[in-house]
Formats: sequence, structure tokens, C-alpha cells
Amino acid sequence: MNYYSQPINIFEYEQLAAESLSKMAWDYYVSGAWDEITLGDNHAAFERIRFRPRVLVDVSDRHLETTILGQSLALPLLIAPMAFQCLAHPEGEIATATAASQGNVGMVLSTMSNKNLEEVATAYQTSQNSPISTPLWFQLYVHRDRGLTRALVERAYAAGYNALCVTVDAPVLGVRERDKRNQLTLPENLQLANLATLSGLNIPETQGESGLFAYFAQQLDPAVTWRDLEWLQSLSPLPLVVKGILRGDDAVRAVECGARAIAVSNHGGRQLDGAIASVDALVEVVTAVDGRAEVIIDGGIRRGTDILKALAMGAKAVMIGRPVLWGLAVNGQAGVCDVLKIIREELDVAMALCGCTHVANIGDILQFEK
Ligand code: FNR
Ligand code: LAC
Repeated sequence: MNYYSQPINIFEYEQLAAESLSKMAWDYYVSGAWDEITLGDNHAAFERIRFRPRVLVDVSDRHLETTILGQSLALPLLIAPMAFQCLAHPEGEIATATAASQGNVGMVLSTMSNKNLEEVATAYQTSQNSPISTPLWFQLYVHRDRGLTRALVERAYAAGYNALCVTVDAPVLGVRERDKRNQLTLPENLQLANLATLSGLNIPETQGESGLFAYFAQQLDPAVTWRDLEWLQSLSPLPLVVKGILRGDDAVRAVECGARAIAVSNHGGRQLDGAIASVDALVEVVTAVDGRAEVIIDGGIRRGTDILKALAMGAKAVMIGRPVLWGLAVNGQAGVCDVLKIIREELDVAMALCGCTHVANIGDILQFEK
């Protein structure tokens, strides 16, 4: 037993996860594109922002609960869509969804999940421990086969997902060199569960490249434009969330096309290496959107203080990615629950120390690097 056997923060979870995952899974989860400059900058950019705390505020009652697209969250947190969660734990997305639901935080399910979207929805819905309704969103990758794409949206709506989160920063997959070396593929017992049932699609065997990269090149449509957002909205009554925006003008365009929420994101540094840190795009997007849509952000959030910084800059909520995979790898559903609990406690303490009592009213508490 080492002293990290009960991790007390996300970085300790990450170290333990590194020890428990296969090399292929660890490399896939932890990687960024090319030189991983953007990957590193996502968290570093949060570290560059400092607090100007307010003192002598009565912080004995602190309120972390909020809403997103009209639904309740116990804290301003959703779990980002992440593919292939059964590489971390046999229960994969079921364990993640159950933990999210028990913690009353949001869950975004990836198109590329190893558990099918219907069973994940059931797990989320049946684990709700209070009568409040929390967000369960489906993340969509638009396939060249538009019939298949339409069927995914219809299934998500029928299964009870309450928003469609369209990822727009991946017309092709970013090049993660470790995945290329490993010729990333899924073990035989795992599938692209949502797609296998539709058309037998799975990650192809490849030589000298990542099977996921090859899948994207073959199956995903690099010709998607703003005009397709209208088509996507016509497929169901689900509100649209556009994920992968890093510019104010693109955010405005998304709002004009009907997006109800914008997710400021560079895909955790996994797509365009050299793209700006997501938090460095946040103020521009919040200003440009000007209240016409809700703004959320992901990328490099590892501490409750990072969430507080994002909220102070105008984000309504944040999404976390890899920290959830580390919890899942270390201890399945209980590990994800613990990761959520750690982040919640950190946010709560940081709010108290900044003189904040409500997540919706954080006020002016930041100093940016000059
Ligand atoms: C992702 N991400 C992602 N995004 C998406 O829209 N669809 C997907 O299927 C995936 N898959 C995926 C797999 C893995 C292993 C990771 C790490 C990430 C991106 C994800 O939603 C999110 O934008 C980032 O992970 C946020 O950054 P952090 O919190 O991981 O730093
Ligand atoms: C990834 C994809 C699947 O980042 O979004 O690996």
C-alpha cells in the first residue's frame, strides 16, 4: 500500500490510474495532439489567473446549486463526453452515469461509448437520489451516413436525453502520436455500442496508425457546416449545445443558428495542438454571447478553484473530462463519486475563502496576469 491508496486530490487519482490502466488505455486517455502544448496550457492558463478575495463576508451558508438549460445541478458541474470508458472499468459509462446521477451533476454521453445510450440513460434515470431533474445530454458526432446520424438523435430523444451536444472541433481526429504508435484499437470484447447496434460499425484494424483516427477519416463527415445545425435541430425537439468553440464570432454564429448553450473547449488539447487554452477564450465568448445562450467550459479543470475562476469569468457551469476517467480506473463508480466529492469540497472551501455565498453571484474576484 502506498500513501496514495486513498487519493485526496485529482493529481493523486491520476497517478494511481496510471498504475492501473493498460498502456494503450492510459496513453489514449492522457494524450493530447502532437506536442501537447495546448494540453499543458489548459491547466496552466487557470494557474495564471489569481484571486482577489473579499473578506468579512458571512459565508456560513454557501449555495453551490444552479441550473443549466433549465435543469438542476447540485454544483455547476457536468461530466464531459468521453469515448471508450470500458477501457477504464468493465462498467464504463454505466458507472460514470450512476455516479453523476447520485451526485446530482450532469452527464454527457459520447457517441463513441462502450455502453449503449439506452442502458446509460436507464442507469442515470434510476439512480437519481432526489426528485430534481438533472441534465443528461447526448454528444453527437455527425457521420457521413446521415440516416445513421438521424437514428442516433432519434434514439437519444426517445431514451430521455435532454439536450443534443454537437461537437464541432473534430472534422478530422487530432493526431495523438502515442495512439499512432500503439495502433490504438478496442479489445475484442468492447464495441462502439451505439453504432454496432445500428450498422455493425467498429474501430478498424490498422497498420501504423490509430484505429480511432482511421474510423473518423472513414465514417465522420468533414463537410459539416453551420447550415447542418439547422438540420440537426429539425431531427428532434432537443435543445442544441455546440461544443468546441474558441472564438466570440463563432459563438455568435452558433447562437444565431439556434444553440442554447455554448461549450468553450479545445477538446482537452486533443484536436488542434497550438490552439489557445479554453479558459483564455472564455471572456471573449461570454462577452460576444451577451446572455443569449448559456456558456460552459471544459479543459484543464483539476481543482475547485478552477471552477470558481470559470464562474467568475461568466461560465454557467464547467465540464470535467480526464479526472472522471482517473476515478473510474481507480475504483469504478465509487471512484467517480469520490472525484466529484473532492471537487465539490474544493469549490465550497474556495468560495468561502473568496467571500462568495452563491455560485450564481460570484462577483469580481479575479486578477489576470498583466
Ligand atoms: C474526450 N473528449 C471527447 N469529446 C467529445 O465531444 N466526444 C468524445 O467522444 C470525446 N472523447 C474523449 C475521450 C477522452 C479519453 C478524453 C480525455 C476526452 C473531450 C472531452 O469531452 C473534453 O472536452 C475534455 O476532456 C476536457 O478536458 P479535460 O477535463 O480532460 O482536461
Ligand atoms: C477523442 C474523441 C473520440 O477525443 O473525441 O478521443
